[in-house]
Amino acid sequence: MSIRSNEFIRTQAYIGGEWVEAQSGDRFAVTDPASGEEIVRVADGTAADAERAVAAAYEAFPDWAGRTAAERSRILRRWYELMVVNAEELGALLTAEMGKPLREAIGEVQYGAGYLEWFAEEAKRAYGDVIPSNSPDGRMMVLKQPVGVCAAITPWNFPSAMLMRKASAALAAGCTMVSKPAEDTPLSALATAALAEEAGVPAGVYNVLPTSRAAEVGEVLTTDERVRKVTFTGSTEVGRLLLAQSATTVKRVSMELGGNAPFIVFDDADLDAAVEGALASKYRNAGQTCVCANRFYVQQGIAEAFTEKLAAKVEAMKVGPGDEPDTDIGPLINADALEKIERLVTGAREKGAELLCGGEPHEAGPLFYAPTVLTGITKDMEIVREEIFGPVTAITTFETEDEAVFAANDTIYGLAAYCYTRDVGRVYRMSERLEYGMVGINQGVISAVNAPFGGIKQSGMGREGSRHGLDDYLEMKYVAIGGLSS
Ligand code: SIN
Repeated sequence: MSIRSNEFIRTQAYIGGEWVEAQSGDRFAVTDPASGEEIVRVADGTAADAERAVAAAYEAFPDWAGRTAAERSRILRRWYELMVVNAEELGALLTAEMGKPLREAIGEVQYGAGYLEWFAEEAKRAYGDVIPSNSPDGRMMVLKQPVGVCAAITPWNFPSAMLMRKASAALAAGCTMVSKPAEDTPLSALATAALAEEAGVPAGVYNVLPTSRAAEVGEVLTTDERVRKVTFTGSTEVGRLLLAQSATTVKRVSMELGGNAPFIVFDDADLDAAVEGALASKYRNAGQTCVCANRFYVQQGIAEAFTEKLAAKVEAMKVGPGDEPDTDIGPLINADALEKIERLVTGAREKGAELLCGGEPHEAGPLFYAPTVLTGITKDMEIVREEIFGPVTAITTFETEDEAVFAANDTIYGLAAYCYTRDVGRVYRMSERLEYGMVGINQGVISAVNAPFGGIKQSGMGREGSRHGLDDYLEMKYVAIGGLSS
């Protein structure tokens, strides 16, 4: 069936509970990266539309914040159920605009919906404190209150789940939201709004503004006084800019930024488990994931066996459009992504890296890149300093644990790290010594709704998911009461 008949396609912005055109009347094209064909054209939001969306969210805030947690919870739960029931169709839409294999797209919709389910529960647990008072006629307490209007700027690589991860926590806490999805992938975000509406999310509480004018809309969202928090998932470069803009009105911020994840395999690792973990960590979403393994450090005693096994599996991966049933690797998101990967691979080879498989664009189409394995990687190569964001494994060998730890931590990033070992002492040492917000030990995929997702160093600040995720959308207010004696 043609993707154009997908029942969740929406082409207008969702503002104040209404589907509206951009005030300019402009639209921009959304294309399928697998075929290059236009899917639809959607409303192209401007600064004026961003102001309209902020006004709607601002107006809706007092009523939403004033509802009981139980009521907000019930609405979020309904939204979750609608997402799950419609996961296949939402997945098809996601594959069409983003390219990932359909089973991964459906998995993403379910993963994102899981945050709605999780925060529907956490909404009821926004506990404050009662502090033993300093005087007999006084009381001291801490209230947890919603931050206010939140702006969410979300990426193309997980266009459904990253938005749900933010919106679920924000709405559970009693905040309202204006979201600006990535230009390449607005359709999944708009589809979530259609389901939010059906679930009974009140007008103005959740607004989605597609745009090709990221800088213009982003400026409004980061500088408007009425917006109290900015939450962003994307590159460190853009994160720095949004942080600077948000500083002008001292907004709360959560930043889930770039990573440069090391994947360390020790001689004592379970070889098969390490290879499977590497495949899952590196090649999920064609390597276009912030937590993807980016640099492989493999101890010398196991390096040959690990590399051979991994390369054989990588070579056997099926590259093709995401809607073909056996596809493992879909297209990259756009031409810039492909150019970057080509630059990094060519640069590494020029400096002496050895190519085991792949290493070039794939014949499946203009945006496909063959899954690649490179060895002989050295630290002067760009490929270990930049986020590859593509299906390329870059392997370096090492001798000692100290050497691996030093190399792994030698980066401005601190999002996720992985380590394979069966030595119990080393499990603890590596967990503690790796300077990252998330560490997977003998685990290649670590994301989960009940775990705190986020980074340290220039990978960002704040945590999403888990029992800690609600705090990012709550203010703490200390109340001192006196004069209570009779
Ligand atoms: C990301 O790439 O930013 C998130 C991926 C995930 O949640 O696993």
